[in-house]
Formats: sequence, C-alpha cells, structure tokens
Amino acid sequence: MPEQAEQPIKLKVAIIGCGRVSEKHIRAVAKLSDRLCLSALVDNNPDAPNNLLNACKKKIKKISELKSSLTTYIDYKEMLKDIHPDIVAITVPSGLHYEIAKDCLTAGCNILLEKPMTMSNKSSRELYELASSLGLKIAMGHIYRYFPIVSLLHEDMVNGVFGKVGHGSVIVRWGHDNDYYNQAAWRGTWKSDGGALMNQTVHALDLMCYLMNAEAVKVDGMLSRRFRDMEAEDTAMGVFTFTNGALCQVEGTTATFPKDHEASFFINAEKAAIRIALRKGKPSYSITTEKGKNLAFRYLRRYIKNVGLSYLISVAKNPHYGIYCDLHNAITTGTSPVADGRSGYLSVDMVLGFYRSVLKKGDVELPLSSEFKIEEMSKLELN
Ligand SMILES: NC(=O)c1ccc[n+]([C@@H]2O[C@H](COP(=O)([O-])OP(=O)(O)OC[C@H]3O[C@@H](n4cnc5c(N)ncnc54)[C@H](O)[C@@H]3O)[C@@H](O)[C@H]2O)c1
Repeated sequence: MPEQAEQPIKLKVAIIGCGRVSEKHIRAVAKLSDRLCLSALVDNNPDAPNNLLNACKKKIKKISELKSSLTTYIDYKEMLKDIHPDIVAITVPSGLHYEIAKDCLTAGCNILLEKPMTMSNKSSRELYELASSLGLKIAMGHIYRYFPIVSLLHEDMVNGVFGKVGHGSVIVRWGHDNDYYNQAAWRGTWKSDGGALMNQTVHALDLMCYLMNAEAVKVDGMLSRRFRDMEAEDTAMGVFTFTNGALCQVEGTTATFPKDHEASFFINAEKAAIRIALRKGKPSYSITTEKGKNLAFRYLRRYIKNVGLSYLISVAKNPHYGIYCDLHNAITTGTSPVADGRSGYLSVDMVLGFYRSVLKKGDVELPLSSEFKIEEMSKLELN
C-alpha cells in the first residue's frame, strides 16, 4: 500500500493487550503519525502499558509525544465508552479474541485482530458476518500477506500468469523453547492457544490460499508433541487439497531451535516455481521459469514502482506497518483490507479441520460442516 500524498484522515487507535506482539503494533502506529493517533493502551495488568512504552523507547522517535496523547486502561469496556476509537487492535491471548472483538465491533469500532481469529470456526464466521452487517472492517494480523512482492504474485496468479498450479508446500519451523511456553498460562493450552499449527502456522496456511488464489476443500493431518512441555502439539504434518485441485503439504513446528526460525513457501505452477523464504529474519524470493530464469528482481522493481522504496523498507522491517496502512486505506476508501475477516475465518477453519482429521484419523472436508471448538482437542492423547 503506497503512502498517501495529501492530508490523510486521522484515525484514533486503541490497543488492547500490551504483551509481546503489541510492540510491533505500537511501532507501526507511531510511524504512521500522519494518519493514526494512538489514543489508548489497555491491559488488565496495570504495569503492562508502561512496560510496553519503556520497551519501545529506543525504537520510537518522539515517544513522549505518543505518551502525551494516550490514556491507559485496565478495562477495555471503559476504554470503548470513553475513547470511541476508529480502530481497536486486539492483541490479547487468542482464547479472548472472540469476546473482545465482538464487543469492539458492537461498539462501532473497526478492528485489527491478531491471528488466529478465534478458537472455533463458528465464532470466527460470526465475527466476519457481524462486521459485514455493521459495515465495519476486520484486518487480520496475517503478516505474510504484507511481505514485499506477495501482493504482485497474488495478482499474477489471479490473472493466470503462472498457469495451472500443480502443488504447494509450506514449512514453518518457528522454534520456541519451554521458557516461551512457561511465560504465560495460556500458551500451548488447547483452550486458549492450540499448538504450532493454530498459533505459528495459521497465517502461513492463509498465505498459501492467497498465493494459490484457492481455498482448502480437504485435509488430513497428524500431530505430535516431541520436545515441548505443553498441552497441545509442537509438531504438525498434513496435506490439504485446494479448490483448484492442487495438493499442499504442511509442516508446522515449534520443536526446532528458537534461534533458527524459518518459514518457507513453495508453489509449483505450470509457468513458474515460486519460492518465498524467511530464515533467521532474512527474506529470499525466487520466481523461476521453465528456462531457469529467476524473475524475483523484476518483481521487486515492479513492487518498488508501485509502492515506493520507503514503504518497502518499512514493511520489510515490520509487516504490521503494512497492515495498518492497508486498514487505514480500507476504512477511508471503503475497500476491503488485504487480510480481511474472511481470510481470518477460512484459515481458522483449515486449522480446525486439520485438528478434527487427527481426532477422526482420516480426512475431513472443508469448510467444516458443523461447529468445532479447539478445546475438543483436549481428548487427544499426544506423544
Ligand atoms: N501476527 C503475528 O505476527 C503475531 C505474533 C505474536 C503473537 N500474535 C498473536 O497475538 C496475540 C497475543 O500474543 P502475545 O504473544 O503478545 O501474548 P502476551 O501474553 O505476551 O500478551 C497478551 C497481553 O494481553 C493482556 N491481557 C490478557 N487478558 C486481557 C484482558 N482481558 N484485557 C486486556 N488485556 C489482557 C496480558 O496481560 C498481556 O499483557 C495472540 O493471539 C498471538 O497469537 C501474533
């Protein structure tokens, strides 16, 4: 999303949940001070907002200006009444997304909801439908959609430039140690988080749908818990079938080393093999033709021409910057965010279908035909 040239409309933002991910939100909002104003920080731990602001000190210029414009709250309902924000970012534990998102939408706010949307397919769909009926926007924290050149690859896939899709493969090796899981009681539980698939892999599945321009129609998966001391899985492997007939294999794990994070995406199409990878924070791209030519640089040039170099740098450093630009644009122009509420519920449906296939010990059709809540997974004996 290119930066706006003239006097953008300024929108009020509130952030509910001042934990790990909220730093990325606050940095993005601070950088967009021409169009966003941080009006409130909310956390039921009264020390959390100040701890967050202190942690951001070195990364945000003019932090004192930011502080002076905001009020802190411990009760989000009180904040909604006092502030009436245009956008509420919901960055609380996943098990609380549904209730808080519903209250924010009902209060007339657009929301930036962290992934995964909710812990059940029914409640995710309900949020999407509620926002649509109220004319409000939901932007999901699906950061991968905002990586450089991804929007162009999607556009070209939609326009048939790559021809038929053969198959895909996605790997998320996002190592977290036991200290991470012990940091907060909700992490790694079936009720409030799920495992490597629901937490770390859900937005990678969303990216495969976006890049393939297709939706999942079937899944068969397996789970294990090898190294981490948690209730849910630390490793998931499975295969999805998509509406275009393509198969997509998935590996999602947190059982790898925390200092060796890797997410990689591969799409084998008739006219190009697309590879996007992120390893230890460094991105790499290759779009290879049948003759072996790599078109990545060409895509990068086209992307810079569309969005500008400064946007590219900002979004590469912090993809949440792209989400906020896009949401601001969607609200002020009446368009839909790139990672919208539909992408939220479809990706949750994919994960829950995967989980259900583990319980069923066989493949499951998607979208799920009945409600499935993640807590049903507590019946599963993992090893
Ligand atoms: N998109 C991404 O890249 C990304 C990255 C990390 C986490 N996430 C998602 O963001 C969410 C938060 O993750 P995190 O790692 O920041 O968690 P965290 O535990 O570090 O932070 C959660 C914060 O919410 C607060 N909180 C809990 N209940 C609350 C309530 N009722 N009202 C107000 N505040 C409340 C907690 O005190 C805590 O400060 C999760 O859903 C996670 O999946 C997304």
